[in-house]
Amino acid sequence: MESIAGPRKTGAMRFLVIGASGAQGGAVARHLTERGHDVRGFSRTGDVPARVRPFRGDLGDAARVKEAFDGVTHASVTLPLVYDPATVSAHVRHVIDGALAAGVRRLAFNTGNRLPEAESGVAAFETRRRAAAALLSSGVPTVVLRPPLYAENLRAPGVAGPGVLRYPLPADVAVPWLTHADLGAATAAALTLDGLEGATLDLGGPDTVTGPELAAMFGPGVRYEEQDVAAFESGLAHAVGAEAAAGVAATYRWIGGRRGFFTPSPGLAERLGLRLTPLRDWIAT
Ligand SMILES: NC(=O)c1ccc[n+]([C@@H]2O[C@H](COP(=O)([O-])OP(=O)(O)OC[C@H]3O[C@@H](n4cnc5c(N)ncnc54)[C@H](OP(=O)(O)O)[C@@H]3O)[C@@H](O)[C@H]2O)c1
Repeated sequence: MESIAGPRKTGAMRFLVIGASGAQGGAVARHLTERGHDVRGFSRTGDVPARVRPFRGDLGDAARVKEAFDGVTHASVTLPLVYDPATVSAHVRHVIDGALAAGVRRLAFNTGNRLPEAESGVAAFETRRRAAAALLSSGVPTVVLRPPLYAENLRAPGVAGPGVLRYPLPADVAVPWLTHADLGAATAAALTLDGLEGATLDLGGPDTVTGPELAAMFGPGVRYEEQDVAAFESGLAHAVGAEAAAGVAATYRWIGGRRGFFTPSPGLAERLGLRLTPLRDWIAT
């Protein structure tokens, strides 16, 4: 983290949440509306959380993205499960143009994943690395948020079964699982605290656990099983399509043996004023 956060900004704020009908953007939008903010939610379907004003559009439509930014002061951006470099770079260009035209005061870009330190050849990482670099050098006051894995992944079909927890990571990879609700709070902080422009923040939940430690949180005697990435990919393909599933599976193949990948930025929760959800509490809900 490059900067120390200061007191909260005040003054009229109008938020745009790109991807507000999705799991992550929806959590950001809910966090903001629950605190009384004016939130416009951008997505193709308009199926956004209660009290969010839907704004239907496609990220590939430059004019529509620009309209979505009209009057906006703060924007949260989550890119969809699309990893084609040309498509992602067009989406990002449209976001930058819209944000610059509106003169947004702060944009929080969620990379969707941690990013490897060096070029990895994995599209899901590299398209987001380029997106973050483009935003940070665009003149739009940007904060880059790099989440670890989301706790909500653990509720996907086939993960938690009787006596077993299956996930496509080696048992000794430790993960600071982050809840979507905590992502919402972190994004709101990144958007509204002073002094964060230009920062890249590695988010994480309060509990960093290995596979067996995680399994034990699901109940006594629950064992951890490393799922074969190909089996994970074929299950995911039913939900999101083969292309997106292949893109996600490539990230797990890359992470495979890399033990320190998910380390969170030390002291970040305190700097952002977050009270993160203990993983055991989240599992119990
Ligand atoms: N770290 C992790 O554990 C983790 C877990 C899941 C996902 N991810 C990453 O997070 C990102 C988002 O994934 P997700 O599963 O959260 O996606 P999601 O729930 O499907 O959300 C995507 C959002 O983008 C919108 N969208 C899709 N295509 C669009 C387009 N062309 N124009 C405008 N809006 C569009 C969707 O709404 P409409 O369909 O209404 O347009 C939705 O609001 C991906 O990069 C993924 O790799 C990371």
